Amino acid sequence: MALPENFLWGGAIAANQAEGGMLAGNRGLSNIDLLPQGEHRMAIGKGLISNLQRDEKYYYPSEKAIDMYNHYLDDIKLLAEMGLKVFRLSISWTRIFPNGDDSQPNEEGLAFYERIFKELRKYHIEPLVTLAHFDVPVALIKKYGAWRNRKMIDAYTNYARTVFTRYKGLVKYWLTINEINILLHQPFVGGGLIFGEGENVAQLKYQVAHHQLLASALATKIAHEIDSENKVGCMLAGGSHYPYSCQPEDYLEAIHRDNGEYFFIDVQARGYYPNYALKKFERENIQIDITQADKEMLLANTVDFVSFSYYCSRTVSGLDENYASTTGNLFKSIKNPYLKSTQWGWQIDPLGLRSSLNMLYNRYQKPLFIVENGLGAKDEPDEQNYVVDDYRIEYTRQHIQAFKDAVEIDGVELMGYTTWGILDLVSASTGQMSKRYGFIYVDCDDQGRGSLRRVPKKSFYWYQKVIASNGEIL
Ligand code: BG6
Repeated sequence: MALPENFLWGGAIAANQAEGGMLAGNRGLSNIDLLPQGEHRMAIGKGLISNLQRDEKYYYPSEKAIDMYNHYLDDIKLLAEMGLKVFRLSISWTRIFPNGDDSQPNEEGLAFYERIFKELRKYHIEPLVTLAHFDVPVALIKKYGAWRNRKMIDAYTNYARTVFTRYKGLVKYWLTINEINILLHQPFVGGGLIFGEGENVAQLKYQVAHHQLLASALATKIAHEIDSENKVGCMLAGGSHYPYSCQPEDYLEAIHRDNGEYFFIDVQARGYYPNYALKKFERENIQIDITQADKEMLLANTVDFVSFSYYCSRTVSGLDENYASTTGNLFKSIKNPYLKSTQWGWQIDPLGLRSSLNMLYNRYQKPLFIVENGLGAKDEPDEQNYVVDDYRIEYTRQHIQAFKDAVEIDGVELMGYTTWGILDLVSASTGQMSKRYGFIYVDCDDQGRGSLRRVPKKSFYWYQKVIASNGEIL
């Protein structure tokens, strides 16, 4: 058997893309609640336009999402039927602290997640919990300018301590910050940042990165103090860079671009700033406030495992050529002529997953966890809302084969695999429902219309067999 017996097969979602119930149970507003569907979504996500007043003219898909807030019992039942061993979800920070740093936590929010975790445990499903999945309380954006202020570290660690304490014994696996490198590409989504006129954007991003890295290390420390059974991971938007050609300039560029993203895990997994980053700061006159105590904190509190999302590889060139480009998980990249693309232009590359696993394992020597992977595609349900999604099965099969090979042939240590959007949910980049990832169809369209009925797709029954055979039957 290629995979260990305790391999964690599962699925993933995030609070902001699934729960809805935006103001239910005393919840406060979060950055994602300000992201509308439509042409301004990207600019707001990048922090170039402010929508702090939450303009009524827009449609906000996260407000209702797939209403998991009210459907979670039935949803978990379906996940159990599929045979899931692990379910990745995030806690919405503003359900616990509506203003991000209230003196007391909101009991309704705490009780909500307690019910979820207990329900998962009833079916022997291990929760894997992200503390912040694109989640910055709006009140803290207004009060501090979000993560640009060091005080955010106190607010975040107080929130972390509260949930570690409350869910001790119920949750063992934690991720500190979802796709921490998204901060560089979508600073409002990743860090609640809105830039002022003439601000030094690079300086600000790396100061914010330092605050988040420190907060992550502190949360890791607290998690271990509260329960020595806790396992804490970092989480990166993964996918290595390929040189467009074998010209040395292209290869070097690929190394530099990898460094640009892996910078975050370098700090979280090794405990110190890599030399290439310190040189970059020096060269670009980026001055970050890093104290000796910060350095000690980072070094003493590295993560237990390294997790990442994988949707595609990226292709780059160090030469000044005008190659055709494509998008993929919020990054722009040169179009790789050897790969096919999804309907949204993300390039499909199962072997790239195996390469990424090798690279990450060689670099960190820590257990790895693939916590997102999947195909966003348009589905065509029949009158009963049943979807025959052979394309999704094929995509997933190829990626599973790739990570099985990484384990069996290359000797990579892999803890588990959670497919993204195990139930259809709102797309982070576009705000659409029609970009579906799920093995469970949710009857809801791009304008939020539909019965919200959940119907297993063909892929549901396929994945059920994959899990039952521990990946032997693909
Ligand atoms: C990752 C995020 O970037 O990719 C998820 O962690 C997101 O929140 C997923 O949904 C897929 O991206 P998209 O834009 O297709 O929803």
